[in-house]
Amino acid sequence: MEQASRVLNAQFREKIMSAEAAAAQIMPGDNVGMSGFTGSGHPKEVPVELARRIEAAHARGEAFRISVWTGASTAPELDGALAKVDGIELRIPYQSDPVCRQKINEGTMQYADLHLSHVAQHVWFGFYGKLNVAVIEVTAILEDGSLVPSTAIGNNKTWLDRADKVILEVNSHQSMHLDGMHDIYYGTQVPPHRLPIPMTHSDNRIGIPYLRVDPAKVVAVVETHAADRNTDFTPPDAESEQIAAHLVEFFQHEVKLGRLPRNLLPLQSGVGNIANAVLAGLNKSSFDNMTAYTEVLQDGMLDMIASGKLRHASATAISLSKAGLDYFEKNIETLRNRILLRPQEMSNHPELIRRLGTLSMNGMIEADIYGNVNSTHIMGTRIMNGIGGSGDFARNAYISAFMTPSTAKSGKISCIVPMVSHVDHTEHDVQVIVTEQGLADLRGLAPKQRAKVVIAKCAHPDYRDMLTDYYERSLRESPGKHTPHILTEALSWHQRFEETGSMRKDAAPAKPKAADTVVA
Ligand code: COA
Repeated sequence: MEQASRVLNAQFREKIMSAEAAAAQIMPGDNVGMSGFTGSGHPKEVPVELARRIEAAHARGEAFRISVWTGASTAPELDGALAKVDGIELRIPYQSDPVCRQKINEGTMQYADLHLSHVAQHVWFGFYGKLNVAVIEVTAILEDGSLVPSTAIGNNKTWLDRADKVILEVNSHQSMHLDGMHDIYYGTQVPPHRLPIPMTHSDNRIGIPYLRVDPAKVVAVVETHAADRNTDFTPPDAESEQIAAHLVEFFQHEVKLGRLPRNLLPLQSGVGNIANAVLAGLNKSSFDNMTAYTEVLQDGMLDMIASGKLRHASATAISLSKAGLDYFEKNIETLRNRILLRPQEMSNHPELIRRLGTLSMNGMIEADIYGNVNSTHIMGTRIMNGIGGSGDFARNAYISAFMTPSTAKSGKISCIVPMVSHVDHTEHDVQVIVTEQGLADLRGLAPKQRAKVVIAKCAHPDYRDMLTDYYERSLRESPGKHTPHILTEALSWHQRFEETGSMRKDAAPAKPKAADTVVA
């Protein structure tokens, strides 16, 4: 069915062209700021056409790579398409694409993994150089030239303000009912001119519903009609339900002690299935009238809004499954007053997170006995996704919790280890660690106290004795007794996994790979 044009401004209408013609505006070596956050609101057609152009240039023997800056992760038609043709020189600040991950880990793509709240201000400070082009998806262009944002805002405000050239994708697949759900704050300044951000509650509106752009910079408008990534979630399994139950019990205890109000404080929930399961647990709990100040609004939060448990949610992106999207679109009129989307420099702003006092719950890859957390690297060297907003929240939250099943890969990996193989969140920022085994409340504990609690509460029984043995020998052998370690052994569990395919002590050595047996 023919869609009515959403480009209502005459000046912008003159700039409508094909995605191919728009992509031709992007030059080798350009820094390109694209919209997109957790598979939502990314441009759907220009990156694909750009990838075709890059592939053709490479076939002719010409060099053509660009740097891609986004809000966060995107989708196969952006990260996947560009990575596949080796079109990305440098990627910032977050990705979760399998092709990107492969290229980064094989060493053919550079990736700077940044705190999401840092990105916009660093671009304003000029730290990453010039932004040549912005490619931004919007829902509509209104008569007066205002841009109705899409399902994610991310860094779009900054890209539109800072880029030399702007390409707009106007996606008629996005609901027009999104109009009014956004809150774009234009009051940010750079030091020494910064002022306090005028927000005291997570549902405060402090800006305007539209993005602005200087029409003179707009070189192309492309009309598209395509869905976001809309990944389905797996239903909560027994382990994630246990993790959720431990957290709910912990919050109930905090309320009883008067350290949290009865409706809790604004929730921040990370990405992935466990985070979604925790929200399902909170939805079933006795808590009511809750709020959220988070980065991404996933299905779990939508369910909480639907049940009436969650009064209001503030985020920078809506990332839903197909079923979630269906519910969202059918109920958008009711949801409109209960959801606000903000730029990620606001959703993740340390000043606001600290002021509002979020309860932050993020996934992790592993934690060590002293409470340091690795959120990003497999066995210390291979990137998974990136730090995302977990650091913005961990340091500044009222309570910062990290969660994981106690083991991975069918029990061959312990997610509680003597020393993490990469540190994203130091012991100073990690207050609570949760696995299906239990919850370790580390607040106010010294390192040796923390080690005992982490091993007792969080480690899987198969690894508990090994961890206790390591800790007790460290106590005797370590030269320093504040944070005891045996440095020659601290990462031996990871080494054993790389060599044998298991962290277990009784693991048989892995069969040598064919290449390993070749003697030069
Ligand atoms: N060692 C090695 N591999 C491990 C591991 C460990 N300790 N723990 C998990 N894994 C593997 C899993 O087996 C799985 O592998 P697969 O993809 O081959 O199946 C993979 O890592 C992901 O694990 P899973 O349990 O499915 O993860 P998740 O969906 O709960 O996500 C993170 C966990 C850490 C990857 C995810 O939360 C993340 O990217 N966090 C950083 C960003 C963030 O926190 N954003 C929110 C901030 S607002």
